Amino acid sequence: MIKKALEVALNDQINAEFHSAYLYLSMSSYYNSIGLAGFANWMRIQYQEELAHATRFFDYVNERGGRVRLSPIKEVMVEFSGPVNVFEETLAHEQLVTSLINKLMDISIQESDHATKSFLQWFIDEQVEEEANVEQILNNLKLIKGEGQGLLMMDREMKTRVFVDPFAAIKP
Ligand code: FEO
Repeated sequence: MIKKALEVALNDQINAEFHSAYLYLSMSSYYNSIGLAGFANWMRIQYQEELAHATRFFDYVNERGGRVRLSPIKEVMVEFSGPVNVFEETLAHEQLVTSLINKLMDISIQESDHATKSFLQWFIDEQVEEEANVEQILNNLKLIKGEGQGLLMMDREMKTRVFVDPFAAIKP
């Protein structure tokens, strides 16, 4: 049975992952509204990934005999100042998520919960990749100043992203 402090912290993380999903879906809608279907697709895949993260935390709390208590999802940004700004916000958001995952790991260490430490390691590694990917896209967007032919080429590239369930291998 999972300890109360971790049950609470993991429930907060479920909410944070759903909040991330909600934010990226909002960003997808924004990109659609300015005619960038490829960027909209990338954000929609990002939304699906966040749902997968939320569900993985959900399943883990249940596996450990804890109780999931879903709470309201905070409002997300709807308007952005342009295609570059969306990725600035995305990077800031992923950095926030990294700090949340690190805090969760700190609590697992304090509580000597080795199973949760092991469970969280995937997310620690994932955040390194998430931040690196987002930073790369942001740098490219800045290089082309978020406009012109370069932006259309990037949009075509962003359209090729497909969803791969990161937890497919561990599903029953
Ligand atoms: Fe669930 Fe983008 O981290």
